[in-house]
Amino acid sequence: MAIASHAAVSSPLFSSPRLHRQLSCNDDARRVPTLKASPLLRNPNVPFLVLRHCRRGVGISCSATASESGGNQQKVKIRRSADENIREEAHRRDEASGSHGFSACYVPFNASADSTETYSLDDVVYRSRSGGLLDVRHDFAALKRFPGSYWRDLFDSRVGRTTWPYGSGVWSKKEFVLPEIDPDHIVSLFEGNSNLFWAERLGRDHLGGMPDLWVKHCGISHTGSFKDLGMTVLVSQVNRLRRAPLNRPIAGVGCASTGDTSAALSAYCAAARIPSIVFLPADRISLAQLVQPIANGATVLSIDTDFDGCMRLIREVTAELPIYLANSLNSLRLEGQKTAAIEILQQFDWEVPDWVIVPGGNLGNIYAFYKGFEMCRELGLVDRVPRLVCAQAANANPLYLHYKSGWSDFKPIVAADTFASAIQIGDPVSIDRAVFALQATNGIVEEATEEELMDAMSLADRTGMFACPHTGVALAALFKLREKGVIETKDRTIVVSTAHGLKFAQSKVDYHSKEISDMACRFSNPPVNVKANFGSVMDVLKEKLNVKVGL
Ligand SMILES: Cc1ncc(COP(=O)(O)O)c(C=O)c1O
Repeated sequence: MAIASHAAVSSPLFSSPRLHRQLSCNDDARRVPTLKASPLLRNPNVPFLVLRHCRRGVGISCSATASESGGNQQKVKIRRSADENIREEAHRRDEASGSHGFSACYVPFNASADSTETYSLDDVVYRSRSGGLLDVRHDFAALKRFPGSYWRDLFDSRVGRTTWPYGSGVWSKKEFVLPEIDPDHIVSLFEGNSNLFWAERLGRDHLGGMPDLWVKHCGISHTGSFKDLGMTVLVSQVNRLRRAPLNRPIAGVGCASTGDTSAALSAYCAAARIPSIVFLPADRISLAQLVQPIANGATVLSIDTDFDGCMRLIREVTAELPIYLANSLNSLRLEGQKTAAIEILQQFDWEVPDWVIVPGGNLGNIYAFYKGFEMCRELGLVDRVPRLVCAQAANANPLYLHYKSGWSDFKPIVAADTFASAIQIGDPVSIDRAVFALQATNGIVEEATEEELMDAMSLADRTGMFACPHTGVALAALFKLREKGVIETKDRTIVVSTAHGLKFAQSKVDYHSKEISDMACRFSNPPVNVKANFGSVMDVLKEKLNVKVGL
């Protein structure tokens, strides 16, 4: 392979003034490591310099591009050789850089300070010894060896690249997600980096003039929902477990699903040639959701029960068979989902918004958002966290009822049908995680009736979106909180859109056909049936556009 001469690499000591400044800034007592160049610097095909931590002998990949590293050298870009793909290139780069010293493990969720219960991420374990939830805990001491400015620059430098695996919005934050995984084991479909939509017209025309209203379109993603963010992490870890040297006998990966999880699981498993098994509540998910796992070759069981029933069954089955459980009970998924929060901060140049509104069902995602924001705060990337709002459908509102009761005894409910079918969950697995996240952020829970959520979705569509009903729930919560004056017009507010509207097209068809009983469908816009002649067409257009012929 051709090796380009480069001024920066001829020096044994790497001296990036900018990086050095970043690493030394904030606090000297942070014991900033001395950095010197790894031999990889000599490979101009590697866009990220690999820095070696001299004192401890560990290296970490660093964001500085060649041009940043030495001031005024020319950027030399030579194409990777044809006999090496991006995965192999990453593997070679990783091998050369050695261990970076970051790590993560499972601990009981909200463990007491004196708890010593920990598990390796290579263990197949979903619950703590006491039967509680688990959490992935990162080695913050290792991460804190670098100041927040370092992490900000590192993550910013990776956005939108094809360099494996950093082109993914999840894996561009690999050190905060699964630091120890070999890039070769990562199963990524370049998820994340989703559109942060400036909801200019919705904010201006329908919310009393909110200039800083944004919709984080997590559903504009490979399988059409935010589930891709978590599934890339879980399936990557399963891939690692199944392959050498661990060679674990995992026959497949299974989940119960309200539709989106199964779509994500089957796509990622198909990409990695891992069997997937999905349990779906019969007749309770959209056709678009159902056809995704079918198309991706999953074993699809359509079961005559609701989501909570499917969840019970998959837990029993995974206790008997070597099937890895992919539900959000599994805390690995939340590690990927939390990157949406980091991405929001990044998209605002690391300024913290005032509010983030997340639709909640099984309640893993609201905690994932909290975790992403809190991790950035603790590691100095930002100085505070936003207030979180969890929005629930009134037909499936166990968290809302719990909140309204002043967080007294939680009672699961039987969730009724809702257009927001993916959050039709009465006994959320992550209830404790959600309560923790909301209490820690001075958060709020709001609910939306079917009419409120469908109207909010349809109004948003009228301003150029194509929202799903779950996003409608979050938007309806925003409308209510604006009306109550809790969220003010000046507040920078993010509504998290969790799925693509196209997956829920039938609900829009029903709404616009005014076929929903007890619903006025105020913003419906049915197509006009017109006779095939000029006069009829003109009549309709003149009336619709309120124009006179001849002007
Ligand atoms: C589209 C959509 N929105 C929201 C949610 C709720 O996420 P969580 O179950 O983590 O609360 C889900 C998943 O259940 C979903 O598929």
